[in-house]
Amino acid sequence: MWLIACLFIVPICAAPTTQNVEADPNSRLMNNILSYVAEDSSACGTYFQYACGKYAVRHRDDPFTEIIQMLDHKVNGNLVQLMHELHQRSQSPGFNESSVEAKVLHFYRTCREAPPSTRKMEHYLRLAPPGQALTWPQFMPRGEPWPKAQFKWMKSLGHLYRYGFTNVLVNVLVLRSSENSNRFRLDISMPSLEGDAQHLGGFLSTLATLQIIGVPTKSILPLVRKIRRLESAIRVLTEVDDDDESETWTLRQWEYKTGYAWQGFVESIVGHSVSHHYVMQAQNAKYFTGLKRLMDSTDAEVVANYIMTRFVLYLIDDFIDSNEHIDCVTDMRRNMNLASNLLYKERFLDPATLQQYTQEVTKVFEQLRRQFLLQINENRLGLTSEQNSMVATKAQHVVLNIGNLPRGRDHRSFVSRHYEDLVFPLPDFDYAREHLNLLEFRTRKQVLQLNQSAPTPDEFFYLSDPKTAMSSGPYYLMRLNIIVVPHGLLQEPFFAADSHDIFKYSLLGFVLAHELMHSVDTVGLYYDRYGNIHEIGPQISSSPRFVAGLQCLNRNSTQYLDERIADIAGLDLAYSTYFQNSSQMSLTDFTTIPPQQIFFLNLAQFFCGDGDPINFVGHDNDETRLQQMLNGFAPFHEAFGCPAKSNQPEKCQLW
Ligand SMILES: *[C@@H]1O[C@H](CO)[C@@H](O)[C@H](O)[C@H]1NC(C)=O
Ligand SMILES: *[C@@H]1O[C@H](CO)[C@@H](O)[C@H](O)[C@H]1NC(C)=O
Ligand SMILES: *[C@@H]1O[C@H](CO)[C@@H](O)[C@H](O)[C@H]1NC(C)=O
Ligand SMILES: *[C@@H]1O[C@H](CO)[C@@H](O)[C@H](O)[C@H]1NC(C)=O
Ligand SMILES: [Zn+2]
Repeated sequence: MWLIACLFIVPICAAPTTQNVEADPNSRLMNNILSYVAEDSSACGTYFQYACGKYAVRHRDDPFTEIIQMLDHKVNGNLVQLMHELHQRSQSPGFNESSVEAKVLHFYRTCREAPPSTRKMEHYLRLAPPGQALTWPQFMPRGEPWPKAQFKWMKSLGHLYRYGFTNVLVNVLVLRSSENSNRFRLDISMPSLEGDAQHLGGFLSTLATLQIIGVPTKSILPLVRKIRRLESAIRVLTEVDDDDESETWTLRQWEYKTGYAWQGFVESIVGHSVSHHYVMQAQNAKYFTGLKRLMDSTDAEVVANYIMTRFVLYLIDDFIDSNEHIDCVTDMRRNMNLASNLLYKERFLDPATLQQYTQEVTKVFEQLRRQFLLQINENRLGLTSEQNSMVATKAQHVVLNIGNLPRGRDHRSFVSRHYEDLVFPLPDFDYAREHLNLLEFRTRKQVLQLNQSAPTPDEFFYLSDPKTAMSSGPYYLMRLNIIVVPHGLLQEPFFAADSHDIFKYSLLGFVLAHELMHSVDTVGLYYDRYGNIHEIGPQISSSPRFVAGLQCLNRNSTQYLDERIADIAGLDLAYSTYFQNSSQMSLTDFTTIPPQQIFFLNLAQFFCGDGDPINFVGHDNDETRLQQMLNGFAPFHEAFGCPAKSNQPEKCQLW
């Protein structure tokens, strides 16, 4: 009866079957991969077109252009839901007003509900003047001259540093000391004017900036000319100085070297008095002596206006002018990263799930590491045993941090303590006030590191810069030898814990292998397992086979050679880890597509997208990256039966 009924009422019978298919993670992932494939293209021709050809059509109406953004979008959606729940809870009498939840909610609600006038740059500038008892020039009461003599450019920069504002005239960083990665040092260097937010915009956009912050119309035009001229002069000074290494100095030595007083400036950065023996790192003395002359010969009001305009550009770059749910959650993630990591974990990853994910990711990473150690042992580069053992030791000590939370601490109490001195004393919603408050908080945390020795791996979490904090992409920390895997990465279609290993190794595995390879790329090699400079690295990078390998990788030249190393060596590692180790692992029972093809199709998921190729930062565009990785990679050509071409480039050999 049941069988017969099925013959006639197909849709009803078919429904459960379809659901069964969807419930199986392997079929789900497989269907997703296949939905991007453009069958009318040739895998041997442009593989990107073949594997990703239908991406744009499938995601035409989506607010993301590739897989990591898709994962972020899911994270943000979840956090919006969490904010609603917190809002509900905050209405009940038991809600703890000093909890991390309350702080996160206050900032989120500020973003959502603050009056638009509190987002205006003019409002910011009134809250953040260039010094105590000094306003920005345009805010003087009508007719009163601005008290130029009270303005001291170094004092103002020291004052505004509290908001993390730097890289204008002077660049100040809190860095791990170049000799000892366990210690932090104040590092002073000339500014870099590269990067969109690191210099004035064009003539018209600078004019518009001055207009929105209330500079009187009649003074705008001459002012734009003057501050642009000042920036050109600064640029010339930076181009003349070619010192590119920080050295250790005492304050007294540095003052002697540059010919002017730095003590007050340093004191306002670190927040306490310092002696002449204070030790710091600095470079570009030539630039700084030139800068002093330039500042002495420039009108103080022009300097103040230049600093102010750059301050506004800095704030605009750190700010989303929107009160939409999703945008406010993004804003919350970048301003309160540690809190959002904790709340996301507690709400969306129950302990058993998180434990399973951690085990899976760790297992994949350990297999990659083991395979890499075997590779090092083969010594394809013909290194000496000392060189080889340095690389092996470094690889053995790479630490994986999942979720950017300290591994060995109770997360809730750790995070509560972190935010202890973040308070929002006023109950009303003022966006600029709280944004500045959080910038101060973030900078204080950075500066505090100067007083502490570096945390152990168990206490470690990365005090993210805002851009990193908003992304679910993994990253390698060079001076720490740590790979951070944000929780957001551990979601479908990127990762499914109960899926077949082939999916894990070809996508997550490739990405982890890519990050692992950054530990031995041309920059990574300079640092040992502790993140300290050592002399063996340069020996390796100037050894004949390494040099030949680099030249080969750069045949089609790229600005991002280290990324290409990580891509190509990472693919080699992920592929060999999966296929060389056990043959039964490569059997799949959910599809007739050969495992080798599945591997390359799933690998492509990291690169599929429909973003504008000009929007790639720090990497070649995704199509180029994928093509470069597969060029000359024999297993790929075998997997798709590509005819051997006489002009087929040879595979480049590095590790
Ligand atoms: C409220 O939260 C703070 C910070 O996490 C904590 O120290 C305090 O004990 C909590 N108070 C109550 C009543 O739970
Ligand atoms: C290969 O698999 C075996 C058993 O599954 C494991 O012990 C071994 O470490 C693996 N080798 C590599 C290089 O991953
Ligand atoms: C940091 O150390 C200095 C002395 O080395 C001290 O004066 C200052 O108060 C300390 N700051 C903090 C926040 O502990
Ligand atoms: C360099 O790029 C061109 C065009 O994209 C391609 O035809 C050629 O095969 C590439 N060569 C190598 C060595 O990758
Ligand atoms: Zn990379």
